[in-house]
Amino acid sequence: MTNVDADPTRWTTGLYAPVEQEVTATDLPVRGTLPPELDGRYLRNGPNPVGAAPEGGQHWFTGAGMVHGVRLRDGRAEWYRNRYVRSGGVTDVLGEPDRGGPLHDGSRGPANTNVVGIGGRTFAIVEAGSFPIELDDELETIASSDFGGTLRTSFSAHPKRDPATGLLHTMTYYWPEESVHYVVVGPDATVVHDAAIPVGGRPMVHDTAITETRVLVLDLPCTFSMDDAGAGAPLPYRWEAGRPARVGVLPLGGSADDVVWCSVDPCYVFHPLNAHDLPDGRIEAFVVRHPKMFDTDRLGPNEGAPTLERWVIDPASGTVKEERLDDRSQEFPRVPDALVGRPARYGYTVGFDVAHGTTSALYKHDVTRDTSEVRSFGPTAMAGEAVFVPRDGATAEDDGYLLTLVTDAADERSALHVLSAHDVGGDPVAVVDLPQRVPLGFHGNWIPTGA
Ligand SMILES: [Fe+2]
Repeated sequence: MTNVDADPTRWTTGLYAPVEQEVTATDLPVRGTLPPELDGRYLRNGPNPVGAAPEGGQHWFTGAGMVHGVRLRDGRAEWYRNRYVRSGGVTDVLGEPDRGGPLHDGSRGPANTNVVGIGGRTFAIVEAGSFPIELDDELETIASSDFGGTLRTSFSAHPKRDPATGLLHTMTYYWPEESVHYVVVGPDATVVHDAAIPVGGRPMVHDTAITETRVLVLDLPCTFSMDDAGAGAPLPYRWEAGRPARVGVLPLGGSADDVVWCSVDPCYVFHPLNAHDLPDGRIEAFVVRHPKMFDTDRLGPNEGAPTLERWVIDPASGTVKEERLDDRSQEFPRVPDALVGRPARYGYTVGFDVAHGTTSALYKHDVTRDTSEVRSFGPTAMAGEAVFVPRDGATAEDDGYLLTLVTDAADERSALHVLSAHDVGGDPVAVVDLPQRVPLGFHGNWIPTGA
């Protein structure tokens, strides 16, 4: 069965078309006033395929990584840069020397999904195989990294940083293993915990969520397919009808023996918005739920609208109570970094049309009141994931800024928008015009100077 809406070129054309130039531009034009307290780099990773597209079409998740960055300081937009993340597969195509560094099981695949700051260093990261790739402050590739010899598994694109400890909690997976690994990385970028958790299969585990005391394993029925791998599929994972869906709950720092499994209706979740402990031992989580994954469309998420849901996970009964909060199609959920694993009133997502891969408005959800506000950037504009940065001396949860890259299909121009999170519908605080189009991509972060 194939999805008739799925255009096999959609991840390499239009606003997804890769850019070939690596640009450095300084003193960028700014509309409005950049708050001087924004001292750091906004970085965003995403696929920027190099070379010929595979036969059958480019999978959204497998293109070469490219990081785009904007350096803000003293009320100025000091620079914009975009650089390939030079994994071995990328340097081969570009005809450049390999950048070296340790490899996980020989993998030279892209690190194209997220970019994070850990202990004053910058890493481009990806799930399912390749090690992180370290970048310098100006986005040049240094080398592949196993965190000083401490990372012995594949990594993840979604470490969850516990704001109380600075520890980064990840769930990692790699196709030969019927286990996921719960890997914890310390603030000094070394692995401090690695626990294999048998799952009786090979699920794709894109992300996790933490609370103040526990971490989740999203064991959902999208799994590795040896048949697809043998046939050369670019991403050999597909919907496995009949495989039970479940959420594992274990204590922070725990191991396989500690896991309590809770059944959930079959679905796929790339991204939880957040989770927190309830006083009675249950966990309240908010997730973006896809009805299925990689069933009718094998090149990208396209199995019906991803919707915002509340899950109440009850380890005592092994059940998950589900409730839909918003049936608009959306993705890329974020809460303020300081509230990861804590009760957060506000969450931010982006409208996402899965059939066409287009994004639209930014949504600000109040999950305590089940209300939302919408910001449109115009009828032809597409927004990326919004990252919250608190205002100096902030006194309210939404007292800060939302940073998001916006590209208008009408003129193919991109800009970094700085919005007031308290007034998402109001005039932007500042808009930094960028010298080239930034292809729609995945995830990014604000990395303050020195962090
Ligand atoms: Fe992701």
